[in-house]
Amino acid sequence: MALTRRRFIKTGLMGGLAAAAMPGLSALPALAESKTRTYTIQAQPAKIDLGGGEAFAAWTYNGQSPGPEIRVKEGETLCVILENGLPQPTSIHWHGLPVPNAMDGVPGLTQTAVPPGGRFVYEFTARPAGTYFYHSHQGLQLDRGLAGALVVEEARPIGGWDREYTLMLEDWVAAAGNGPAARRRRSPSGRGMMGRRGMMRGGRGGPLLEPLYDAYAVNGLAYPFARPLTVKKGDKVRLRLINASAASIYDLALAGHRLTVTHSDGRPVAPATFDVVRLGGGERYDVEFIAENPGSWLLQAWDSGLGESGLSVPILYEGVQRAAPTPPRFHRGLSLCTYPELRAAQAVPITSEPDLWYRQLLSGGMHSPYWGINGRLHPNSETLPLGLGQRVRLGYRNHSHMPHPMHLHGHFFRVVNPDLPRELWIFKDTVIVEPMRGLQVEFLADNPGRWLHHCHNLYHMEAGMANELAYETSGPRDKTLT
Ligand code: C2O
Ligand code: CU
Repeated sequence: MALTRRRFIKTGLMGGLAAAAMPGLSALPALAESKTRTYTIQAQPAKIDLGGGEAFAAWTYNGQSPGPEIRVKEGETLCVILENGLPQPTSIHWHGLPVPNAMDGVPGLTQTAVPPGGRFVYEFTARPAGTYFYHSHQGLQLDRGLAGALVVEEARPIGGWDREYTLMLEDWVAAAGNGPAARRRRSPSGRGMMGRRGMMRGGRGGPLLEPLYDAYAVNGLAYPFARPLTVKKGDKVRLRLINASAASIYDLALAGHRLTVTHSDGRPVAPATFDVVRLGGGERYDVEFIAENPGSWLLQAWDSGLGESGLSVPILYEGVQRAAPTPPRFHRGLSLCTYPELRAAQAVPITSEPDLWYRQLLSGGMHSPYWGINGRLHPNSETLPLGLGQRVRLGYRNHSHMPHPMHLHGHFFRVVNPDLPRELWIFKDTVIVEPMRGLQVEFLADNPGRWLHHCHNLYHMEAGMANELAYETSGPRDKTLT
């Protein structure tokens, strides 16, 4: 528990440089569609450390955080047996995958939470191919470590990469007591009080405010212990970036290289190259780069909130002398990957205008620890009705001073972009709505059930920023304009 950043820097420069190369993806034959892949996932408390050797208690899948990477081929059946070894009820949500409603893993909405000692079998067809993750959807459990990568590989490999790495990006509170109050940030009212596990409570009985994170891990290891990604000169390297953090948003850059975005939230986009890629909680990007600048480099996140960089992982060329990796320099004029600059890899027509148009006003935080949509707090928020086959537009407006990565369960939406033909609007399932800005998304209602829609900042979600979308079984109601 006594891991501090300073300690990391002092003791860490020597350690953690044991590189583990991952072989290039070889072309595997497509498997029969009926194949089932089964995983048993035990949610259990365990001691972990972020590389510094000082263990602290976390909640894990199979004793590790992040949990084991689940890999499956598109079209295969994924069967996951969840066994709950935690002292609390839990569930698993398959973030981004449009699974049948009953498999979506939202306690109280799509299933009863799995009690301690209980088990639940999730089974669904894994599609479409892409980068996803799985996590607990019970309370703040994700922030205790309950998340893992989920990769759905193309049934027929598209290949073209020499190396591939999956990077789970996580924020941690490693230091006991969460640091001095002076370093507290993002406590909206300034009234936060220190609490258990470094969490702060917004006034008496109010929701927990997000903690002051003091360690950032890539695949469970904090820099400088993070395992370097080894590359060979000439390699085309694919990174599957997954922001599994409870509250942090990262602006990632790789020193000495630019990043070419090929997939957003798992879905292919026309490759576009940037200096910096921003990921909100729940977002994923697949990026690639050509290893053509030998050296020891840092892939690092800039955190505008902290004014210092938190999350880092070295990229080390084979045959290069191990040296302190060069960090990227963040300065004006760097190109940032923004949604309007991305277009779908292939034209997918949108054939009708929206049937339903829901305004979603995001607010809160100023003088209250609560966050809401249209002035209401989940579970007392509106339920948005929709009918099978309808096109639904969500028009976000952020009237607060914090960004909100908004996530819709069960569907991919298209990000509305007036500058592009509609068939090129990108598919995503999580979008950051920046402070005092607006953004619209649109989706086809093609997956019946009751679905959660929320800010993926867990603390905002728990403080009310969520609502539900409910398919009407007896045919669509009148077109509703809210
Ligand atoms: Cu990552 Cu409601 O989910
Ligand atoms: Cu939010």
